[in-house]
Amino acid sequence: MTTTHKVMLLPGDGIGPEIMAEVKRVMTWIEGAYGVSFDVSEGLIGGCSYEEFGHPLTDETLARAKASDAIVMGCVGGPQWDGKTDYDKRPEAGLLRIRKELDLFANLRPAMCFDALADASSLKREYVAGLDILFVRELAGGVYFGEPRGIEDLPGGGRVGINTQRYTDAEIIRIARVAFEMARKRGNKVHSAEKANVMESGLLWREEVTKLHAAEYSDVQLEHILADNCAMQLVKNPKQFDVILTDNLFGDLLSDAAAMLTGSLGMLPSASLGSGGPGLYEPVHGSAPDIAGQGIANPIAAILSLAMALRYSLDMGDAADAVEAAVSKALDSARTGDIWAEGFERVGTTGMGDAILAALG
Ligand code: IPM
Ligand code: MG
Repeated sequence: MTTTHKVMLLPGDGIGPEIMAEVKRVMTWIEGAYGVSFDVSEGLIGGCSYEEFGHPLTDETLARAKASDAIVMGCVGGPQWDGKTDYDKRPEAGLLRIRKELDLFANLRPAMCFDALADASSLKREYVAGLDILFVRELAGGVYFGEPRGIEDLPGGGRVGINTQRYTDAEIIRIARVAFEMARKRGNKVHSAEKANVMESGLLWREEVTKLHAAEYSDVQLEHILADNCAMQLVKNPKQFDVILTDNLFGDLLSDAAAMLTGSLGMLPSASLGSGGPGLYEPVHGSAPDIAGQGIANPIAAILSLAMALRYSLDMGDAADAVEAAVSKALDSARTGDIWAEGFERVGTTGMGDAILAALG
């Protein structure tokens, strides 16, 4: 009997549809090679959904996403929606809604340096070659969702903008657990980053991580680090890190910095996992409106996001390994413009897909 996996594809805005087309080709290859079948459902998210339905994520799309085994997303946003002051209508709100509704609290963001790309980093090769950090970013809480929030008029005139950083012990413990579990499968080291020196939420974070570590994970090396120092250390000596555990906002900032210094921004995937339910898999990069529609975007981050979906949601680790190996192999010859160097064939989005499919055999 053929196993059927229900996969929801949300290409989104900008380069999303182009890179997702290559993801679909890889999925077709996997069906043939592994004798599985993908029951694919497609939907709109972000600005494109706003244009069509007046909302960046509709209830109907959300319901289909919830009913799937895995969701592979492209990217959202674009300059045409930048001026929107109504936060719940912005493209990003679609993404935040799906994260929240599916309770996708664990965002795994690998920042690894492909050897072939070490020279593309803004740091010298010796600092980044072989770099392999895993960010475990809390994704369903913190200042992104905390109440109260808003912009209010002040009684005496003027206005105030309010956001609230808020973490319960349970929220901290569940994300810390993910970090420790991941570390055990990797370098066995966790750096937990917060601002315990100025924020109560940071202090609680530090206390709860310490307690969980002592109770269940004392075999894992744990270091607490202030988030600002973490930013500095990432640029100074990134290879000291294995797993970085941090909250929603610090994780957003630190993972972008790390992604850039791998030289591979266009190549990094991410996974957002809840407890049970489908995971959401998406590239770390944005929608790149400046190059959208030109057929030159790098589809690798999206294809590696599919690989993460295979590994974490669809129980197809072998297929994930095969896809990742094929990406590495394809990079030996073909390169899209963002990672092109002398001596390599310069290809577009489809050409990169061709090279990966050729490597898959
Ligand atoms: C990310 C993005 C999102 C975030 C935006 C698009 C809402 O920057 O996934 O890192 O801030 O979480
Ligand atoms: Mg970000």
